[in-house]
Amino acid sequence: MSRDFYDFILGLRAIRSYRDEPLSDEDLAAILEAARWTGSSKNRQDWSFVVVTEKEQLMRLAECGDFTDPVRRSAATIVIVQEPGGYEFDSGRVAQNIMLAAKAIGVASCPITFHRDSDVRTVLGIPDDRRARYGIALGYPAEDAAPARMGGRKPREAIVHRERYS
Ligand SMILES: Cc1cc2nc3c(=O)[nH]c(=O)nc-3n(C[C@H](O)[C@H](O)[C@H](O)COP(=O)(O)O)c2cc1C
Repeated sequence: MSRDFYDFILGLRAIRSYRDEPLSDEDLAAILEAARWTGSSKNRQDWSFVVVTEKEQLMRLAECGDFTDPVRRSAATIVIVQEPGGYEFDSGRVAQNIMLAAKAIGVASCPITFHRDSDVRTVLGIPDDRRARYGIALGYPAEDAAPARMGGRKPREAIVHRERYS
């Protein structure tokens, strides 16, 4: 087992401040490639991705959720579109792969909820039968970028059950 890779997974944190610098085409392509290769239920791949990099469009997108400052500051925000028949579990897997791949190449990220997802459809021109409730804000980490202090975790014994829920 690679201890480094294990530690890398455990070390993934939401980072919310980024340098004011666009992502390189190469880095963005690498992140999207990791998204594309995510496993999905029955390998259906019922997802698509809207990459938003224009400042005004990022500002409009940020209005669609309540905790979206990372979107305003991001170099790019990838909106995950759940295509008809898609599962939220698959969207979660794709989001995690985006974040891990980004970290691997030095790009910081933060998951984002768009509480008003019907507004996201309007801003991005997504048809009504698709869902776009989540995205990932991305950017090269700012000098002072640090995870939020609240970021601890529940103890294992509080969340793990053996054989039966108890
Ligand atoms: C489904 C989901 C939605 C989230 N939405 C937001 C959001 O809208 N804005 C935000 O700043 N962070 C958001 N987060 C990030 C969480 O706040 C973060 O994962 C949590 O605080 C743990 O942070 P840490 O991994 O840095 O310890 C979201 C995370 C998940 C998994």
